[in-house]
Amino acid sequence: MLRAKIIATGSYAPERVLTNFDLEKMVDTSDEWIRERSGIRERRIASEKEAASDLAYEAAKAAFKRTDIKPKDIELIIVATVTGDMPTPATACHLQHKLGIKKAAAFDVNAACSGFLYGLSIADSFIKSGAYKRILLVGTEVLSRFTDWEDRTTCVLFGDGAGAAILEATDENRGIVSAHIRSDGALWELLHMPGGGSINPPSKESLKKKMHYLKMKGNEIFKVAVRTLENLASRTLVENKLKPSQLSLLIPHQANLRIIQATAERLNIPMEKVFVNIDKYGNTSAASIPIALDEAVRQGRVRDGDYVLLEAFGGGLTWASVLIKW
Ligand code: COA
Repeated sequence: MLRAKIIATGSYAPERVLTNFDLEKMVDTSDEWIRERSGIRERRIASEKEAASDLAYEAAKAAFKRTDIKPKDIELIIVATVTGDMPTPATACHLQHKLGIKKAAAFDVNAACSGFLYGLSIADSFIKSGAYKRILLVGTEVLSRFTDWEDRTTCVLFGDGAGAAILEATDENRGIVSAHIRSDGALWELLHMPGGGSINPPSKESLKKKMHYLKMKGNEIFKVAVRTLENLASRTLVENKLKPSQLSLLIPHQANLRIIQATAERLNIPMEKVFVNIDKYGNTSAASIPIALDEAVRQGRVRDGDYVLLEAFGGGLTWASVLIKW
């Protein structure tokens, strides 16, 4: 049976660091409030010249450095993002151009913070079906451009960055074991950007009403996130006849340290087995899991044969879990 194996990862964080102390000078907040409520200390902000595909390009380049596979070997490029270069064409096409890849298909996935795991699920299906052998998947976000820097309830949470994974077909007994994706469109209003689409196209009015910024009902998302993540992650373990103790590492979407801790506790996974880097980057949406995965790999926290569980939730609402035998 063919399986999709991640053979290389890479990530990129823009140079500029914005600390909680910097934010204290911008809105009515404090370092203490942000750390206690979210676990975030600082986040990265893209330079004016960097678009989502530029961050994606740097992350992809870092991944290609760690494998013999060349960009020309890639048959499919999937980019997960909600802050793409432009509404059309896809950021994946911009990335394809920057990487000089001629013969490949390219498209974007919009599943907000679950985007990278949706992308893994799609890549897994394409590889299992035999359609493609080598796929580049990137999660990239420039959330700073769609953040209302006067709204303290959102601006303290988000950051910019990108993470990449190169997947290859293998007939070894390793790679993606199972991928589960879910959504509930009835909850779309909990996290959305009202302007810029066909409901509220860009206009003087939409700009005046700040419709091109992210709007969020944070505490409502919090409750749904913990419940849905626990359900889906438990189901993933049960379906694969695995006990939580058999997992080597849980890599959760980095949205809020308290959500990460509450989910880990409900799943009976000790925090030593949970990867956390939210303090450095904040919530980078679709880039959060691939950045964390790349750091976990480089820190030697993921070894051959390990079971690693990835889980995420985000706007949509969407949520997802992917089990990998490394
Ligand atoms: N600094 C200081 N005070 C702030 C603040 C800030 N940056 N943001 C909000 N507050 C205030 C609120 O106005 C509120 O004040 P009030 O009690 O006088 O009304 C108080 O802090 C508590 O707000 P609340 O929203 O209930 O806090 P919380 O404990 O739920 O934490 C979040 C807020 C956003 C950190 C938390 O709900 C969260 O992380 N939710 C999930 C969001 C998420 O993951 N989104 C992305 C999905 S991928």
